[in-house]
Amino acid sequence: MAKDPGRILIFDTTLRDGEQSPGASLNLEEKLAIAHQLARLGVDVIEAGFPFASQGDFSAVQKIAEHVGGSEGPIICGLARASFKDIKVCADAISPAPKKRIHTFIATSDIHLEHKLRKSRKDVLQIVPEMVQYAKSLVEDVEFSCEDAGRSDPEFLYEVIEQAILSGANTINIPDTVGYTTPSEFGGLIEGINNNVANIDDAILSVHGHNDLGLAVANFLEAVKRGARQLECTINGIGERAGNAALEELVMALHVRRSFFNPFFGREALCPTPLTAVRTEEITKTSRLVSNLTGMVVQPNKAIVGANAFAHESGIHQDGVLKNRLTYEIVDAKTVGLTDNKISLGKLSGRSAVRARLEELGYDLSREDLNEAFARFKDLADRKRDISDRDLEAIVSEQVQQPESFFQLRLVQVSCGSSLKPTATITLADQEENEQTTVALGTGPVDAVCRALEALSGVPNELVEFSVKSVTEGIDAMGEVTIRLRSEGELFSGHSADTDVVVASAQAYINALNRLIAAQGSKTLHPQKDVADFQAKPAI
Ligand code: KIV
Ligand code: ZN
Repeated sequence: MAKDPGRILIFDTTLRDGEQSPGASLNLEEKLAIAHQLARLGVDVIEAGFPFASQGDFSAVQKIAEHVGGSEGPIICGLARASFKDIKVCADAISPAPKKRIHTFIATSDIHLEHKLRKSRKDVLQIVPEMVQYAKSLVEDVEFSCEDAGRSDPEFLYEVIEQAILSGANTINIPDTVGYTTPSEFGGLIEGINNNVANIDDAILSVHGHNDLGLAVANFLEAVKRGARQLECTINGIGERAGNAALEELVMALHVRRSFFNPFFGREALCPTPLTAVRTEEITKTSRLVSNLTGMVVQPNKAIVGANAFAHESGIHQDGVLKNRLTYEIVDAKTVGLTDNKISLGKLSGRSAVRARLEELGYDLSREDLNEAFARFKDLADRKRDISDRDLEAIVSEQVQQPESFFQLRLVQVSCGSSLKPTATITLADQEENEQTTVALGTGPVDAVCRALEALSGVPNELVEFSVKSVTEGIDAMGEVTIRLRSEGELFSGHSADTDVVVASAQAYINALNRLIAAQGSKTLHPQKDVADFQAKPAI
């Protein structure tokens, strides 16, 4: 069997494949906040981005390598197509991290070779050793992926993998790029690689998979039984199209069903040692942070992190659960960090109490950020009697999501009711502090606000998604609003929370608009859809 670390390594690609979800793009501060949380969660590898995509992507990977990848922390990885230039730029971006990895890839399926790369199998067998060796000359830790492995000819895959390992790849990743395989097929592919690649024991075998048929997690668990030891996954399963295998589902399946999986690791069934290094109590917080910052709302019935995943949270305290929770619950909500929404603070709480609670929740804020969070806390405490952990998280996560402020909201006022035409008055300030006010009518108060904002900003866009949910229970709960705007075929999301949902809607709209403006004129390459220039050498 391939080199065996004795447990599962979790390779998180939320910031790379997850960020490839339409409309999920994150700015530098947001990526940094997620990377810090992933480190607290205890993932083994953070794929921080595709540095060749743009200057912004390069800087984000570099910052994460500088601030998150300590010697005790996760490995910081960057993605590079199998081209000299990509690999060099990737090596430069990850260079500040003490533990760093280059992840390079090329497609191996005939469909991709013929229609995307216009290359032969022979070309691939020449490119792979050249690129893996080049990556290896820049960093010690190199991962190689055969894109679309799920639809590749296994005999060809064996040859490519053998060459990659001979050239120095430490990890071999097998992606089901289009989410096509079934669990027995995918498991069979992994077993075939283990049995047919002569030098497979010199590398860790990894899997990566998309959820187009809803099978990604099942495929991975079958792959684990057949020798895969690294799982590439994302928080909340976000990613291209139907997304990637969800980290929280994999980790909790390996946790709850440890006695089933233990024997595949040569352990006694009842061995208590965890199969991953993930701190499960951090899962809920990580899920909420990623959802808030990417604007990718989690469906209520989503396993592990959906609002209805635990009877306890959704308020369904049925007779059986009350007598013994084992009747209907296989996971204790506390295991994933879902507490009883403990009431923690109120109007009279001081700055140090707020700071202490935020620290307990894992937010280590700078002095400036703490000041701002405290001001927002006081403002909320004037309107809401008890402030829970979820309220604090909503305040802080919105604060992290501060896209460059081209526009700032100065005033929102609406009038509506059964006998009034919904009317919004909005004042916006631009970067030069010029204020402009307008009034708009709409089908409802939120529609009127959005129309007024679009008119004032002068940026044409289409509102394609609007969702609102309450942060906690109770009549005075804050409403969390997520908005997505489309402009020139691209999606931009914004998020905000306030006890007044109309104000939250206006702020979420502004946050999305500010992102849209920040992205104007910048070109970002897609690692899989834009084809690399394989030969071009980097300028040294
Ligand atoms: O889905 C895929 O094949 C990928 C590779 C770049 C690993 O994301
Ligand atoms: Zn992928």
